Amino acid sequence: MNIPFLKNKQPEEALQYPVDHTLDHVAIIMDGNGRWAQKRGLPRAAGHKEGLSTVFKIVKAAVKCKVNVLTLYTFSTENWKRPKSEVDVILRLPKEFLSVYLPDLISNNVRIESIGDLEKLPAHTREAIEYAIARTRDNDGLQLNLALNYGSRHEILHSMKELITDINAGKLSLDELNEEQFSTYLYTKDVKDPDLLIRTGGEKRLSNFLLWQLAYTEFWFSDVLWPDFTEVEFLRALEQFRQRNRRYGGV
Ligand code: IPE
Ligand code: IPE
Ligand code: MG
Repeated sequence: MNIPFLKNKQPEEALQYPVDHTLDHVAIIMDGNGRWAQKRGLPRAAGHKEGLSTVFKIVKAAVKCKVNVLTLYTFSTENWKRPKSEVDVILRLPKEFLSVYLPDLISNNVRIESIGDLEKLPAHTREAIEYAIARTRDNDGLQLNLALNYGSRHEILHSMKELITDINAGKLSLDELNEEQFSTYLYTKDVKDPDLLIRTGGEKRLSNFLLWQLAYTEFWFSDVLWPDFTEVEFLRALEQFRQRNRRYGGV
């Protein structure tokens, strides 16, 4: 049967975006770009580029679900091990992404932030991020945290060094140091720990992402490769999260 008015209807139009007040922060390991491209006989770079439209789709879905913080693993401290040509492609993506989507992010009231060691990035990457951070500073909707040149062990070590400097300067007391104070030395000091971690692409590992912050986070793994990841999948993860029973060691 041919129903013309249904033919052009996108399934997304019918989606519902439930708001869950217990879900403050979602973190995503966006994995599978390279395999997506290789499956199609394309260079890995094509997968990274294709993944950009997924980023925007998922940001918009997170906005609709009134998530407060979305942290995206964009480039890890270990990703420097890849061939220089691939690293160059990945590090050009933030600028490409922002040149296309920044106006839409602004109209969606998104505030951009970053975590990671930005100083080691090429100037064009750093400047694009810094511009977007400055441009969205007054927005008070979703905080979009881009983890760039981020590695959790590097973050913890970096925090330890600053902390010891403060102890030596008498600004902090070693005897009184607690978990809450330690957290203020991390890149994530301004946000709550993630409630939900999503990893796409089928691997079941953290790959040096937010090791301290994920202590009591709920994990959801998807086999879908990042460029194929959809709002429907994202909403499924949120729905699963609502069914979890978080005990934090209690009963
Ligand atoms: C994730 O996709 C993106 C980054 C790590 C920057 P990959 O490039 O790791 O894709 P796969 O895992 O090789 O398929
Ligand atoms: C994790 O993916 C890093 C990002 C998504 C940015 P990787 O593809 O680098 O992780 P491994 O190498 O499979 O652990
Ligand atoms: Mg990978």
